Amino acid sequence: MKLHYGRLLSDKLDGEHGLPRARLGDLAQRFPDILSEVRTRRREGEYGFLSLGEQDDTVAAIRRFAEGVGQAYDHVLVLGIGGSALGTKALVNALKPPAWNELDDEGREYYPRITILENVDPTTIGAALRRIDPRRVFVNVISKSGGTAETLAQYLVVRAWLDEALGPDAAARHLVFTTDPSKGPLREIALKDGIAALEVPPTVGGRFSVLTPVGLLPAALVGIDVAGLVAGARRAVERAEQENLLQNPAALMAALHWAADAWLGARIHVLMPYSDRLREFAAWYSQLWAESLGKRVDRRGAVIHAGPTPVAATGATDQHSQAQLYMEGPFDKVVTFVRIEHATEEVTIPGRAGLPEELAYLAGHTMGELLLAEQEATSAALARMGRMNLTLSIPSLTAETTGELLMFYQIATGFAGAWYGVNPFDQPGVELGKRLTFAAMGRPGFTREAAAGGGGPLDVAG
Ligand code: PA5
Repeated sequence: MKLHYGRLLSDKLDGEHGLPRARLGDLAQRFPDILSEVRTRRREGEYGFLSLGEQDDTVAAIRRFAEGVGQAYDHVLVLGIGGSALGTKALVNALKPPAWNELDDEGREYYPRITILENVDPTTIGAALRRIDPRRVFVNVISKSGGTAETLAQYLVVRAWLDEALGPDAAARHLVFTTDPSKGPLREIALKDGIAALEVPPTVGGRFSVLTPVGLLPAALVGIDVAGLVAGARRAVERAEQENLLQNPAALMAALHWAADAWLGARIHVLMPYSDRLREFAAWYSQLWAESLGKRVDRRGAVIHAGPTPVAATGATDQHSQAQLYMEGPFDKVVTFVRIEHATEEVTIPGRAGLPEELAYLAGHTMGELLLAEQEATSAALARMGRMNLTLSIPSLTAETTGELLMFYQIATGFAGAWYGVNPFDQPGVELGKRLTFAAMGRPGFTREAAAGGGGPLDVAG
């Protein structure tokens, strides 16, 4: 994986915008302090995700578990939300063929179909339960805290559906929980009902948990090489040990985004992979970047209201949707492209007799060539317009490179937390909304929340 950062620097843009090259030196000079802060906090118990490159025992256990479940089921149903769902979606999207669930058994090499429910929209849940055969489904309920309202509501619906179809004892054998090793309602239910339960390491936060059993179990169940994912993650962690900022791409990614925001007002951070297979990865990144860096207070408690706004885009599709804004709108963005140098499959564009001259140039090229040409052209065009952009280049999309990519972004987020001076591992802002939901749904002990003010009756138009 290589990070091309030249087009963030003013001498590679229009001369007026971008980061002056000399300021790279300022970042490099400050980097030892950032690195030392990260290392100290890691020793104190934060940054637990950095240990996920070393987990041979977990990988072996997950593989054994997945093989045990084996061909008894032809559908995996994952229930979770936020960090307990987005990573799994990214893995399946990146590493299983498109339209996986539409393939027949042979096309799927007899691995199960997979559905990931990450919302409480009744139309989605109703449709999923009508489509899936309860006798052939294996349900993985994922919640680190074990008490998230959306996931637990999903569980209650799915559990009743299984109980009715199979009876409560058999239903329990169709379930596995992934949750805290000792705490929370899900762990309690697992113990009471004899349901298998895997552990989310307590030192790893939800949005950093894709490479724990949270993402690894569903991945293994559908035949993704989980050892490869972890090996890739290990490589990213090793590279992030580099003390020279310019030799440490994840740290540099963080430093450049922070500098673009803090020094140049580029508060919008667009991630634009040129691959349909990385659409869900971009959605995963959005949560990681937003929830980790969007904070009211800094580490010392001073109110700073920090945080860049992440935007997920897909190339080349969004060239015809968002690129106009990136090209000519405010100078408030950094665009990061991800390009895959060698696609898993190639499609050649055929020629055709009588083709109008202005289309003939396409014939004989491949779709992959077109995609990469569009990425390079968009990056160069942005640079010419004085727009900062970076390109992350990946040789090909495999379990290893996907694990490396996910870990790379987690590390970059961890470093960005240090540059912004915030705690990237908490999410206090999410809590109030949760408490008001509890109040609205009548949970004892929360009714006072609703009366506490703020919001109030809505003004209505129309
Ligand atoms: O990153 C986070 O911590 C959150 O997005 C959580 O993953 C999300 O709120 C779900 O929490 P839980 O896994 O406890 O159900």
